[in-house]
Order: sequence, then C-alpha cells, then structure tokens
Amino acid sequence: MENERKLLKVGVVGIGRGRSVMRYANGTKQCELVAICDIWEEGLERMKADMEKQGRHLAYYTKFEEFLKHDMDVVCLANYATEHAPLAVQALDAGFHVFSECLPAQTMAEAVALVEAVERSGKKYCFLENACYMPGVLEIKRLFEEGTIGEFEYGEGEYCHNCEGIWTELTHGGDPNHWRNQMYTSFYCTHSIGPLISVTGLRPTSVVGVQLPNIDRMRNMGRKGGVAALEIIRLNNGGVYKSLHGELYSHSLWWSFYGNKGRMETCREDVQMGDTNRVCMDVFKVPGDYDDPTNHVTMSYIPVDKYSKRAKAFGHSGADFYTLWNAMEYILGNEDAKIIDVYQAIDMWIPGLFAHFSALEGSKELAIPDLRDPAQRDAYRNDNRCTNPEKAGDQLIPCHHWGEEDIPQEVWDRFKEDWEKKGHPNTV
Ligand SMILES: NC(=O)c1ccc[n+]([C@@H]2O[C@H](COP(=O)([O-])OP(=O)(O)OC[C@H]3O[C@@H](n4cnc5c(N)ncnc54)[C@H](O)[C@@H]3O)[C@@H](O)[C@H]2O)c1
Repeated sequence: MENERKLLKVGVVGIGRGRSVMRYANGTKQCELVAICDIWEEGLERMKADMEKQGRHLAYYTKFEEFLKHDMDVVCLANYATEHAPLAVQALDAGFHVFSECLPAQTMAEAVALVEAVERSGKKYCFLENACYMPGVLEIKRLFEEGTIGEFEYGEGEYCHNCEGIWTELTHGGDPNHWRNQMYTSFYCTHSIGPLISVTGLRPTSVVGVQLPNIDRMRNMGRKGGVAALEIIRLNNGGVYKSLHGELYSHSLWWSFYGNKGRMETCREDVQMGDTNRVCMDVFKVPGDYDDPTNHVTMSYIPVDKYSKRAKAFGHSGADFYTLWNAMEYILGNEDAKIIDVYQAIDMWIPGLFAHFSALEGSKELAIPDLRDPAQRDAYRNDNRCTNPEKAGDQLIPCHHWGEEDIPQEVWDRFKEDWEKKGHPNTV
C-alpha cells in the first residue's frame, strides 16, 4: 500500500528542531521534503550547503509569505514556540495541512483564531507533541483503551530538562527577547500534560498553579521565570492530575496513571532498565478481589511493535518516529493514525497558561474553557495576556508571581561571547 501512494510534499519552517522532520523525510515512502524556510539567513545558508552536500536539492526561503507560494501539501512549523498559531492560521488559510511543534498557541486569542482557522479551512492539523508518542506512553494508551486500569482516577506527569549547558545554542547567544528567556514557569507544559490527555481522552476543567522560586541558576541563564511549576488539574470525569515541569537539576521524563483497577506507569531513566520506554503495572483483573493471586498482575516490560527497530534511529527514544509516522498517515487518509487534533492540542496547553493566571492570583483554582464550544470563545477573542511584551501590549503579565528580577548585563555578555566563540551554533 505504502508503495502505491503519492509522496506528500512537505515544507519545514525553522532549521533547529525542524531538522527532525528533515531527517524523517529522507528515505520514507510517505513524504518528501521540498522547501525550508527560516528568517535566520546565516543558518539557512549553512543548512543549504549541508543539504547540497547530501545531494538534496530544495527550495529555501527567508520570508514565510514567499514560502507559502511553494507547491506543498504540508507545512511543518518548528519556528519559535510563541509564534506557531499565527503562522498556522496563515498556512491553513492558504490551503495547506499543518503540523505544529509545541506549543499550539501563545494566548487565548490566538487559540480561538487557530481553532476557527482549522474549522474554516477544512484542512488537517496535527500537534507534534512527541511525549505522547514515547513507546511506553503509546503502550499505556493502548492498554488504557482496552480497559486495563478501568476508569482514570489520578495521574502524574513530569518533564524536567536542565538545559543550562546548551543555553547559548537554545537562545541564539543569549537573546534577552528569545521565548526561552521570556517564558513564565508553567509555559512549556505540554510534555508533562500531553500524555494525560492522549492516553485518557479526558479534558481539563480546572487548574491550580504553583510555582517554584527563581534561583541563581535561572538568573545566570537569563531566565525570568521560576525553576519549575506544578499544575494540579481537575478532569471532566472528576479525576486529578499533577503535572511538574521545568529546569530542576535532574532530568525527568515520567508518567503515571491510576484507575479503579490498578496503576500503569513508565520507568524513570535512573532505573536503567530500558530507559523511559519500560512500562510498569500493578493491575487487578477484577476490582476488589484482593485474595486471588491470579487476579493480580504486577510486571514490567519494554513494549515492541513492528516499527520499534526503525524508530530506534530517531530522537526521544523513538518518539520522533511515531509522531511523524502517525501525522503523515493521517494526511494520507489512514483512519488508524493516532494524531493529536487542534482541540486536544489546546487541552494540553491551556492548563499551563491558566496555571500561571492561577499563581498570579495566589494559586486560586481557575475554571478552564472548552474551545470546542463556539459559545465559550467570545470571552477570549481579545485575550492576549502573556509574558511577551510584543504580543501582550497593555495586557502584559509578569513571568513569576514573586515578580521579575532584573538579569545583570554580564549574563547577556557572557552568552554573546560564548556564541561568537562557538561560531553561531544551532540547537541540534
Ligand atoms: N518536541 C520536542 O521535543 C522539541 C524539542 C526542541 C524544540 N521543540 C520546539 O521546536 C520549536 C523550535 O525550537 P528550536 O529549539 O529549534 O529553537 P528556536 O525556537 O530558537 O528556533 C526556531 C527557528 O525558527 C526560526 N524562525 C523564527 N521565526 C520564524 C519565521 N517567522 N519564519 C521562519 N523561521 C522562523 C528561527 O530563526 C530559528 O532558526 C519550538 O517551538 C520548540 O518548542 C520541540
């Protein structure tokens, strides 16, 4: 079947994380890479030279509007995390399917515009939230849908990535206006929350936000927000989820799900037994029958499927393969493709934004709207509250509920010097 289909023509925006799509498109029977767009001319020139060396002849653009005139089927957005929605709306309105890196939107006004652009255009939108495609998470989703742990009651998710060592690359030499320096503490929440939404299919209805303090390490990186944040999320079945993410010293990629028949979770890296792909479970086939040992299953294993070998060559424990394989299949019409649509993308992101609003109000519990319902959209159509001055205008809010600290000039100077010394490196 794969052999008989036409290749999707894919264009990528952003030459950092966008490389994962460029790599994926090399040699697959689903798609071909045809164009790359980036406003950073120096980086784009280097990318072009690399591609030419590999014998890959593509079109290059520095202006998104020009790029949108190229003959393509799919626009894949890996530009700044704060600017996905406006570019997605333009691409959808120009007749392209859209894949979006994290996050889907920056403000509620953008989220409303994005949802309505998807509905208006009739084009397909996939959120590339790759934590949902980690092999362990995919296995837990499969088992959850079979009813293995019954009704969801409680869960936890963690994504902590201490990026201090690569901050020069990640912020293009310590740009004070880079989104990574301007983000509030609960901003980058979809890796910790995404698996909850994709595994259970539930929707967040309220959130309490709790922020950890700013610390010297953050200040020395030029980050205005705190080191990590918690979102305590209530779901539409009454269940509760605790999400933790940020820059705590040790890395963490971990998700746990409790149901009324037991618990399933992924394994922490530290256990060194198959990395985060290992699935652990403690499950009762018949709830309440505690005495029969055959009723009780306690085990752990590394899930394997027909793509496991192929996926190993891709990033994030193979998750980058499954993310793109499913997104491409969806566009090609495969009804079994597991994708994250625009509504679930918003459900994965909204709790982080509302957790920040909550923290600014003394960690008050705040109701979360459901943008599937057109009647709930009007209240947010002009809501641009965020920590990015360019976007927020007079709706600007601080990055932290304790207020923002000034970053000393020597921090920016140090990153700039490092950036020059390293020859303007890219993130990947
Ligand atoms: N899912 C993951 O595991 C993962 C990992 C890393 C990054 N990301 C996401 O990927 C995106 C890119 O991150 P990054 O690490 O590459 O860093 P980045 O955000 O600094 O880089 C984005 C690139 O896009 C370019 N760009 C910005 N605006 C543009 C525009 N209007 N038109 C064309 N190009 C534009 C920039 O010049 C830069 O090269 C972010 O949204 C980030 O959240 C996801």
